[in-house]
Amino acid sequence: MVWAQSLDGVIGLDGGMPWDVPEDLKHFKDVTMGEVLVMGRKTWSSFPKSVRPLPGRTSIVVSKTFSDDPSDPKLDHDDVHVVEDLHQGLELAVQLKTSQTIWVVGGGTLYDQAIDGATVVERSLFNLTVDGDTYAPELDGSWTLAAQDPTNGWHTSKSSVEYRFERWERTLEQDN
Ligand SMILES: NC(=O)c1ccc[n+]([C@@H]2O[C@H](COP(=O)([O-])OP(=O)(O)OC[C@H]3O[C@@H](n4cnc5c(N)ncnc54)[C@H](OP(=O)(O)O)[C@@H]3O)[C@@H](O)[C@H]2O)c1
Repeated sequence: MVWAQSLDGVIGLDGGMPWDVPEDLKHFKDVTMGEVLVMGRKTWSSFPKSVRPLPGRTSIVVSKTFSDDPSDPKLDHDDVHVVEDLHQGLELAVQLKTSQTIWVVGGGTLYDQAIDGATVVERSLFNLTVDGDTYAPELDGSWTLAAQDPTNGWHTSKSSVEYRFERWERTLEQDN
């Protein structure tokens, strides 16, 4: 999974993200480029139309609703697949994947459903607290911080937000 959060775990507000950190958008792009992404319908809708579907990546959108609303996912796009639940999304992702990794890219409902089966979290941490309505799951004691950039302290965004990139890993029993 990959997400960006405030110190108090906020990942979203009013259908978007309550910060402006372009360096993190680049990081997200670097992590996910060429990969298969599974996301909830609201996360899909949160992307600007100009970058939907995310270039160079395969998008699988989990949704039970379809409508004529242009912000809804459409089945007829070459690079977008719509599935009815996370399980179907992960099965399809296994068929389509281009590497060992399938990325769940949000939002809150997808992270909550996927966390028990996840083995890697690329977490961007912002040194701020903000109002939010969507939260990241807690990383419990089964997770280990495998890498951090910078190793001490914070980068400073051109928008002045302090941030760092963390990679958390764990091994699940079925992997042994
Ligand atoms: N900071 C970050 O890294 C980050 C990353 C991603 C998203 N976000 C933010 O998170 C917020 C969106 O997250 P969210 O939790 O509100 O929504 P979400 O998880 O993106 O999407 C929720 C929708 O996904 C579908 N869905 C989820 N689970 C399903 C299931 N088991 N079966 C069928 N459909 C299912 C449903 O779509 P239908 O209603 O169509 O059935 C549901 O309404 C936004 O603010 C976004 O900007 C932040």
